[in-house]
Amino acid sequence: MNKTGKIGRRLGGRTGEPFTFIFDDSTIEAWPGESVAAALLAAGQVVLRIAEDGGARGVVCGIGLCWECRCVIDGRPNVRACMTEARAGMRVRRQQGLE
Ligand code: FES
Repeated sequence: MNKTGKIGRRLGGRTGEPFTFIFDDSTIEAWPGESVAAALLAAGQVVLRIAEDGGARGVVCGIGLCWECRCVIDGRPNVRACMTEARAGMRVRRQQGLE
């Protein structure tokens, strides 16, 4: 578990300085070069969207193929978290349905 009490961790060394972005009401720590999805998983956030049928969805492929990780990022819906580099201050929301 990480310091938030949630399951999640990072592998390997990191370079640069960490920064934060917002996911719903949480502050998420990220490192330079990390995707939004990687930072969210490391923070223990595994549900990145709620599907049209009400089911929870998250990272499946991690390489941009399945679209299960799509979030609302800086106001834009249907953005793949696994293909988006995290930036300081960005605002990410768990997507609800098709939005
Ligand atoms: S996890 Fe499959 S597209 Fe992002």
